[in-house]
Amino acid sequence: MAPMRIEIVADERALGLRAAAIVFEAIAQKPNAVLGLPTGDTPTAAYAELRQRVERGDSDARNVQGFAIDEFIDVAFAGRGTNAAFFAAHLHFLLPRLSLPDSGTPLPEREIALFANELRAAGGFDLCVLGIGANGHIAFNEPGSGLDSRARVVELAEESRRAHAVAFGSLDAVPRRGVTLGVADILDSRAILVLAQGAAKAAIVALAIEGPQTADVPASWLQTHADVTWLLDEAAGALLHRR
Ligand code: PGA
Repeated sequence: MAPMRIEIVADERALGLRAAAIVFEAIAQKPNAVLGLPTGDTPTAAYAELRQRVERGDSDARNVQGFAIDEFIDVAFAGRGTNAAFFAAHLHFLLPRLSLPDSGTPLPEREIALFANELRAAGGFDLCVLGIGANGHIAFNEPGSGLDSRARVVELAEESRRAHAVAFGSLDAVPRRGVTLGVADILDSRAILVLAQGAAKAAIVALAIEGPQTADVPASWLQTHADVTWLLDEAAGALLHRR
């Protein structure tokens, strides 16, 4: 197993530039690349850079196919706080070629099963970009998610709900459930890029990279994959022993 690559850059801006460069390398190698895309504060600088490069005509993302890696449910499609709303704000140019589960579906089990089938039919992820939650989640695979977990409906951890309170307007407005690709679906990707920034992520990043492989820290399952790059800013990488 190849060891995971760890790249540490100075700050948020450098992280955004480097993440965008890695995504465009993947697109340069395969213009119709299938990408897994996260939401959150961490990828927004990278998405701004992607957007600018496409708008300037520096890079061509016309044939890329994107898939959200998770979504809230029990809330109207593209309503405030949803991942659909996030992508409309941050990656508008990709919307015609971005698949995401319908947060308003009355049949979430069926919705996420169809979504996972669509991803398989597209050939799976060439590159799956991830953030990491302060509790170690990847997508909505909260602590307790096993190595073999697949796309499914999940209860959201309170910590995750709190992290979205501002986006939804209040903690009460944050849905209690979501749909997510599973750990095993993410590990089916040909390559994985994990982004983390800020001191609040330093402890969980060190555990995920250097700690035991355990469902308590779902991101630790990434240690089992042959092509993972962790892209960190200095603050998020501060507690790693081997750097
Ligand atoms: P954040 O979220 O980028 O907003 O910190 C990361 C995550 O929960 O995956």
